[in-house]
Amino acid sequence: MTNSRISGLYNLPLDERRTKVADSADFPPEGLTPFTTGGLSPEAADHMIENAIGLYSLPLGIGLNFQVNGRDVLVPMTLEEPSVVAGASFMAKLARAGGGFQATTSAPEMIGQMQLLDVDDIPSARLKIYEHKSELLAEADAIDPVLKKFGGGARDLEVRIIEDSPIGAFLVVHLIYDVRDAMGANAVNTACERLAPRIEAITGGRVHLRILSNLADRRIARVRCVIPVKELAFETVGLVPATGDHEGRPYVYTGERVRDGIIEAYAFAASDPYRAATHNKGIMNGVDAVVIATGNDWRAIEAGAHAYAARSGRYTSLSTWGRDADGNLVGTLEMPMAVGIVGGATKVHPAAQAAVKLMGVKTASELAEIIVSVGLAQNMAALRALATEGIQRGHMTLHARQVAIAAGASRELVEKVAAQMVAEKVVRIDRAEEILKGMK
Ligand code: MEV
Repeated sequence: MTNSRISGLYNLPLDERRTKVADSADFPPEGLTPFTTGGLSPEAADHMIENAIGLYSLPLGIGLNFQVNGRDVLVPMTLEEPSVVAGASFMAKLARAGGGFQATTSAPEMIGQMQLLDVDDIPSARLKIYEHKSELLAEADAIDPVLKKFGGGARDLEVRIIEDSPIGAFLVVHLIYDVRDAMGANAVNTACERLAPRIEAITGGRVHLRILSNLADRRIARVRCVIPVKELAFETVGLVPATGDHEGRPYVYTGERVRDGIIEAYAFAASDPYRAATHNKGIMNGVDAVVIATGNDWRAIEAGAHAYAARSGRYTSLSTWGRDADGNLVGTLEMPMAVGIVGGATKVHPAAQAAVKLMGVKTASELAEIIVSVGLAQNMAALRALATEGIQRGHMTLHARQVAIAAGASRELVEKVAAQMVAEKVVRIDRAEEILKGMK
């Protein structure tokens, strides 16, 4: 059983951190080896893409304190941006005090699209396809016996008329396919390509595109958390927003003030697409980090997320924030989540395999539930910072470390150089270089 609460992890050296994480997840320490090397060999990369000449690494951190549907989970997060892992971990701690994250998923149904052109009579062609629906579904169902064995397969067929396009009206056939624990692109694309000649024969038309839709709005993950209002209170030293006074006086943010500030920030995103894009980017900071760590297709997740955010015709927030009858903060997030734990890079990338194993997920749905929990936690971390001290304060120390490294600080000097820049409130590479020179 994993215990996701590890205090002081940040202060340990890297190798001790790995040991601690393995211990806390009841996981063999050698299971984390792929994270020390990045996992992928150049030879393996050569089999994945064309013209491979090497590898490209990103940091992998562990999201702490997560409890999803009553189960503790240590969450591998791959990304280059400072503050995200710390922010998500801190918010997961607050959410934990309210029972953690409650998450669900719909059936793992993907949509395959077939664009049907050159039919004589669009309404009749549409009905003819419906008349042959059961045989088309039976044919699609037989395509992937492995998926079928695990309970997946063709589920439904829908025929839409696109009335208004640059080439006039045409038909689109949607094949709904349950892909179980796969991301599903291969299964769905194969099924569409296989059905296309049958649809042409039935309608006398020409099937043009045959491809999965990334607007996976039948494969939705949902998550909810309640943050007890008292958990939101904190004291800070520094800028006092009411007066603009920077002179290092203590300032107490009450839980109610933080809660209301988060709800006001959400209202901005809910009603303005310019803000919604940034708000959703904060959610994707958490979502993509886990999607990448598990070898999943983050472009597909991004495309689905933003298309879903615009499904009403107006781009808006993917999450909501409000208060319950007891005055606690309540957050929700709902978005398409087409991730798999079998096949693709998840199968061949040793670090992705290690990430899936560390979380102990047995199904793609479980993985999706963890991913949306991290997205919601990360969204709250950003809103809390923005609604109180502003985003730069938390960023500054982490950013200062990166600047110190960029200026050439050795491992031993990074913290010192960063601390001095933060104290001076001058976080710039030229200043880091000067400080380093002074130290040498
Ligand atoms: C930065 O990577 C993400 C934020 O801009 C998100 C937000 O504004 O909600 C902080």
